Amino acid sequence: MGAGGLRVRIFPTARHAAAALARCVAREIRANPRLVLGLPTGRTPIALYQEIVALERSGHLDLSTATTFNLDEFAGIAAAHPGSYRAFMRRHLFDRLRSPIGRIHFLDGTAPDAARECERYERAIARAGGIDLLILGLGANGHIGFNEPGRRLVARTHLTRLTAATRAANAALFGGRASRVPRQALSMGMATILHARRIVLLATGAGKARTVAAAIRGPLTPRVPASFLQLHRHAEVWLDEAGASRLPGRRAGAKA
Ligand code: GLP
Repeated sequence: MGAGGLRVRIFPTARHAAAALARCVAREIRANPRLVLGLPTGRTPIALYQEIVALERSGHLDLSTATTFNLDEFAGIAAAHPGSYRAFMRRHLFDRLRSPIGRIHFLDGTAPDAARECERYERAIARAGGIDLLILGLGANGHIGFNEPGRRLVARTHLTRLTAATRAANAALFGGRASRVPRQALSMGMATILHARRIVLLATGAGKARTVAAAIRGPLTPRVPASFLQLHRHAEVWLDEAGASRLPGRRAGAKA
């Protein structure tokens, strides 16, 4: 189904979407073993990482020559902290693979000079030749990475303030306490994201349906950062039925 500039794919369930995306990653790596992948965190990609691990462990996917860049990281949180996104990636992907990923890149949330750390990350992405396939999740408030809704967006990797809604959404990583979620984070910027050669935004569940519709069908607005994906030539939105339920022409309230 085509919608604006974005290609939309709808799968029966979140598990189907995750499995198809894992197979897509495997195909991309077979075509280009030195693939540079951009990776998200959040509850949504957990199923994707499970599917990637299953493919890798059964010999159908080899990440040992690939490079990864994670989208974002909490400020002031050390890599070893269980709430860090690096620890999340270790739990769900990195430590589960038979052979380690060729090169893993992360923003360092404890870097004393955040601006320099962000510049370092931009340079590392450029040195790797840019991101070939960037997988994104979608914040319920429309954020991508940690590019939060507001009056303006930032182009490059930057230090940003998290909204109360995003801190609440990330509370599970900090013992269920939103107050313990850092107030700031480092994130790829909108241009960093839009310069990826191919983008797949994965959004599943009825809780994302309204934001999905705004991102795909709504005007480009910094109040819905994901709406800027409409500018990209090769951006796709992969949904389950529930995530797609508020798109025009779909049955409202369809179950996942
Ligand atoms: C965090 C991440 C985003 C992610 C979002 C969605 O805030 N910074 O990159 O897309 O969570 O999370 P979930 O998949 O749990 O809804």
